[in-house]
Amino acid sequence: MQTRLAKKLGLEAPIFAFTRAKEVVLEVSLAGGLGVLGAIAMSPEELDEACTWLDERLGGKPYGVDTVMPMSYAGKGEEWTEEKLRAMISPAHHAFVAHLLEKYGVDELPDDYERKGEDLLGWSDERGRAHLEVALRHPIALIANALGTPPPDCIEAAHAKGVLVGALCGKKKQAMAHKAAGVDVIIAQGTEAGGHTGEVAGMVLTPEVVDAAGDTYVLTAGGIGSGRQMAAALALGADGVWMGSVWLTTTEHVEYHAPIVIEKLLEAKSTDTVRSRAISGKPARQLKTAWTEAWASKESPGYLPIPMMWMVQAEAAERIYHHGNKPLAGSPVGQIVGRMNEIVPTAKVMSDIISECKATLKRMGALGGM
Ligand SMILES: Cc1cc2nc3c(=O)[nH]c(=O)nc-3n(C[C@H](O)[C@H](O)[C@H](O)COP(=O)(O)O)c2cc1C
Repeated sequence: MQTRLAKKLGLEAPIFAFTRAKEVVLEVSLAGGLGVLGAIAMSPEELDEACTWLDERLGGKPYGVDTVMPMSYAGKGEEWTEEKLRAMISPAHHAFVAHLLEKYGVDELPDDYERKGEDLLGWSDERGRAHLEVALRHPIALIANALGTPPPDCIEAAHAKGVLVGALCGKKKQAMAHKAAGVDVIIAQGTEAGGHTGEVAGMVLTPEVVDAAGDTYVLTAGGIGSGRQMAAALALGADGVWMGSVWLTTTEHVEYHAPIVIEKLLEAKSTDTVRSRAISGKPARQLKTAWTEAWASKESPGYLPIPMMWMVQAEAAERIYHHGNKPLAGSPVGQIVGRMNEIVPTAKVMSDIISECKATLKRMGALGGM
């Protein structure tokens, strides 16, 4: 289990956990892996508080932070405001959202409802840079970025603090761009993964990226939920695994989701996900719902680019989750959801994966006559 990246970061096992729950980050890092806190839904102040919370509890064990600086989105490189982008959303889009809420009987929010107020502009360079600046004030070991190669000054700033830089990719070409920019850890994410993902299967992508990466570390992401899958990733040449979906149904994470979403995740089979543009405007694997089906139907006004696609539905989402509307409620999640059938403590997920991976590697060694 002591891959070169595990050694470099002082990990007992090269398990990297992407999660938006600081409690999961804590448990993974305490168990010898590397918890990576997803910052996108947080304000810079909230991220600062969460990192301080972790610093106080981790006793020096390493953790990371994940930002989102997309290669492309509406308004990139321009003087833009939320109002300007809102004005670009057509009446047909607003009408379609209203029609779906009515069709599925989703009530208004009550007068005393406290809005979650998730930041509508989270998917931007500006917000990503603010997250990076906060994260680098804390003793993090890794900063990762989704949806593109991090800008050169961001990579430099991280390296100046001795922090490794990671970036997700869905094809070899993106991996090469990350490497050329000086990214240290390429996260090769197969199509089976939850969240924004490409079309190439992990079984094909990992060896392709490993062979192209040279000395750069590679992690396999997508579909990892057990020690056997982790051993397979190591067999393909990866330096470790990067997991996102399995943490959603851990004891520490359930409070981050509406109960209806947890219910649907526990029920879902591996065939119940779809790669759809219905959340952000870019293809992301998620539960197949009446919402994803409607946006893919003939009646759909079409998808909008980041961040307008989320803007048009942010309030609708709060109504759907508040009222627990089962047909419409969904979540990003990968095909591994078919094996997420009970709520389990994060520490148990970690110990099960580690022990099964060790047993599998031993079995493989015996098969190879060693
Ligand atoms: C609910 C959810 C939200 C995600 N949000 C992000 C994100 O904000 N940034 C990011 O880098 N990756 C995000 N991802 C992708 C994960 O980092 C990870 O690559 C992916 O979950 C791995 O595949 P798996 O879901 O099969 O484990 C998300 C995944 C899920 C399931």
